[in-house]
Amino acid sequence: MQKNILVTGGAGYVGSHVIVSLLERGYGAVSVDNFRNASPEVYGRLRELSGKDFAAAGADACDAEAMARVMRTHDIGAVIHCAGYKSVPESIQKPLEYYENNLGSTIALCKAMRETGVTRLVFSSSATVYGESKVLPYTEEHPTGNCASPYGMSKVMNERILTDAAAAYPGWGVVLLRYFNPIGAHPSGRIGDAPGGVPGNIMPYLLKVATGKLPVLPITGGDYDTPDGTGLRDYLHICDLAEGHVAALQYLETFTGTETVNLGTGRATSVREIVRAMEKAIGKPLPTEIKPRRPGDIAEMRADPAKAKRLLGWEARRSLDEMCADSWRWASRNPAG
Ligand code: WQD
Repeated sequence: MQKNILVTGGAGYVGSHVIVSLLERGYGAVSVDNFRNASPEVYGRLRELSGKDFAAAGADACDAEAMARVMRTHDIGAVIHCAGYKSVPESIQKPLEYYENNLGSTIALCKAMRETGVTRLVFSSSATVYGESKVLPYTEEHPTGNCASPYGMSKVMNERILTDAAAAYPGWGVVLLRYFNPIGAHPSGRIGDAPGGVPGNIMPYLLKVATGKLPVLPITGGDYDTPDGTGLRDYLHICDLAEGHVAALQYLETFTGTETVNLGTGRATSVREIVRAMEKAIGKPLPTEIKPRRPGDIAEMRADPAKAKRLLGWEARRSLDEMCADSWRWASRNPAG
């Protein structure tokens, strides 16, 4: 019998989609979430759309003893660590809280794993660990650490913590997944990205414009050295991203040590192109206005996805049109998020 998988942040955007993928593949799942950036309502929706049950443990991922109890109680075989604060601008205002939460949860989980004999972990890292590079696409060998925000630095530091833990403790296997730009939602329209307040990322902002909650999309930078002057990013469907976690888990069945893997499509899409794709999905024009660049923003990020294919047998399959159609279905059916 496949052991259960502990998903931290299981009520969040990535964690909830990971739980769906796990349940679909026959895994058992246990979620912990402090609901700072998510609603407990997500759990009922996950059970409904997957047709399967899973456990939710009321415990804080930063509490090592509580995490050890969860691992013992639920016969945990591996951890998928998605919990973490993720707002770049907020991390600049609240660096101490970001490091305390994002690093504290990782250290607590490692202590609990060491104590209970759990030896496999998949970590939610980010392409934000890379600095700006003139060499494209980004491979896993690109330099890291030149991050503009405490959020990005917390990912760099977590990667190092986990790499050192896997080197120190016998039998540990860790996969660090560097996400490029996940967007979209489960095709059911029941779960999706629901950031509070004024969104920092482009898709939730666009969806607030589309649902009339915000008047216009500010295009942050129209003078980049790109074909249409706007920023280029490697957007991938959240369901493809979630499946990448299951592929990493399967890889860890026979791997010990640490591997770093980019999750992206290898294709770059501009802001204007994603606006046009959303207008096509919604069937109406979306108002935009050119604004100054955001400090620290770069012209283009695009993944080299070859290692994910070679090592994990994973590649992104869903199109930009699917990402936009699924995003719109989620937002139009859940205007309050
Ligand atoms: C995308 C493009 C903006 C908002 C961030 C995190 C990264 C990862 C993905 C977690 C850029 C433009 C944006 C807006 C705009 N998250 N934009 N108007 O900055 O590539 O990466 O999300 O892992 O860690 O840093 O994503 O969605 O903020 O921006 O024109 O209102 O959209 O300039 O070109 P980003 P983003």
